[in-house]
Amino acid sequence: MVHEMKKFLNKINSIKGEISFDGDKSISHRAVFFSAMSDGISEIENLSHCEDLKTTISAFENLGAKFIFNDRKTIVYGVGKYKFNEPFKEIYCGNSGTTARLLSGILSAQKFNSTITGDESLSKRPMKRIIEPLQKMGAKISHNNFHLPLQFHPVEKLNNLKFDLVIPSAQVKSCILLAGLFVDEETIINESIETRNHTEKMLNLPVLVHNRKKIIKSSSRFYPQSNYYYVPGDISSAAFFIVLTLLSKNSELIIRNVSLNPTRIGFINILQKMNARIEIKFSGKTNNEEYGDLIIKSSKLRNIHIENTFIPNIIDEIPILTIAGIFADGDFQIRNCKELRFKETDRISALSYNLKSLGLNVKEFDDGLFITGYIKNKIGDFKTFDDHRIAMAFSILSMLIDGGGYIDNPECVNISNPAFYNQLNIISY
Ligand code: S3P
Repeated sequence: MVHEMKKFLNKINSIKGEISFDGDKSISHRAVFFSAMSDGISEIENLSHCEDLKTTISAFENLGAKFIFNDRKTIVYGVGKYKFNEPFKEIYCGNSGTTARLLSGILSAQKFNSTITGDESLSKRPMKRIIEPLQKMGAKISHNNFHLPLQFHPVEKLNNLKFDLVIPSAQVKSCILLAGLFVDEETIINESIETRNHTEKMLNLPVLVHNRKKIIKSSSRFYPQSNYYYVPGDISSAAFFIVLTLLSKNSELIIRNVSLNPTRIGFINILQKMNARIEIKFSGKTNNEEYGDLIIKSSKLRNIHIENTFIPNIIDEIPILTIAGIFADGDFQIRNCKELRFKETDRISALSYNLKSLGLNVKEFDDGLFITGYIKNKIGDFKTFDDHRIAMAFSILSMLIDGGGYIDNPECVNISNPAFYNQLNIISY
């Protein structure tokens, strides 16, 4: 049974063509959050169609927002940040950490009861990182030993917080900033290692830079306005196609209208240092978010040292960067990324398990991996651990090894890119 559900991917000769992606997942989540929090009508163009976004949309439907879907445009009838309805059922956050953690910031400040739940993977992910700061703000939260389900009890008002972002997580930062939108006094985040900055950019929150540290402020003065959002293509989805093109012979790929937010393109900067031929063409900004085109050509890569300050910027791209690393000259090493153990699956052990199955020598650290040796098995047989980015990384690897490879549960790619396999078909030769 399990075997029948596997997908086989052949080795390809080359990649050619032009491609664009559905809206960036992180920006799409926020476009929905801020549209629902405004009390007018917003229009979102190129919203992601992925499973995680469906989860966010149904969460806000549960809280009273209304959505109308046209082909490329989504119309959102916002509720207003103080006017959400008490949900008529539990809010199910599926596999989506961004939905659960950002929504917790809003639900903590409400005068009604609400509960959020999630799938098996999300129910194992750590929530202490948001529960503790929210409780310091006065939130009343019951939890299952710092895991889902979380129950939010009514509060009259939250108080403000000054918070050092010790775990460099944009989800934690955004959760607190969103809770801060319900408090008159300023909530202040001190960020010493930069994380993705979509929340502060899209809400126009004040950001000061002091001794290379960022100070981000939110307060009830900031009221998400009804808006027009154009969501640029998902750069994290693009990452898989970028690496496949670089590692395939005689290949060239043009990627149009993709997000080029500097807090998200660290993996491109690293690949360029590894000798990758990637040209970045900025087109402009939309809702303060940079976007543009990329031109990628086959390249001979060599491994480099990856600085720890880059890690939050590349966190979602580490699985595919690891695939690039095993084809690059020299051994591949990545450290300081223990956070990978708390993603949709433990990505350090998922990478290690699959790469070892190919005959590579893998040393697993608590916070990373060291990989040396050569691929010995001609055919791959990979486990996704039901994690979309592990599935996509090993699909790409399958297309680069002589005998191709099998992927179990290929449908899990729908979490971030339901078009993944179709898009690969279009550009592969
Ligand atoms: C996200 C932040 C990151 C990232 C996730 C999306 C976001 O998580 O891994 O895919 O949209 O804020 P952490 O903030 O927990 O590192």
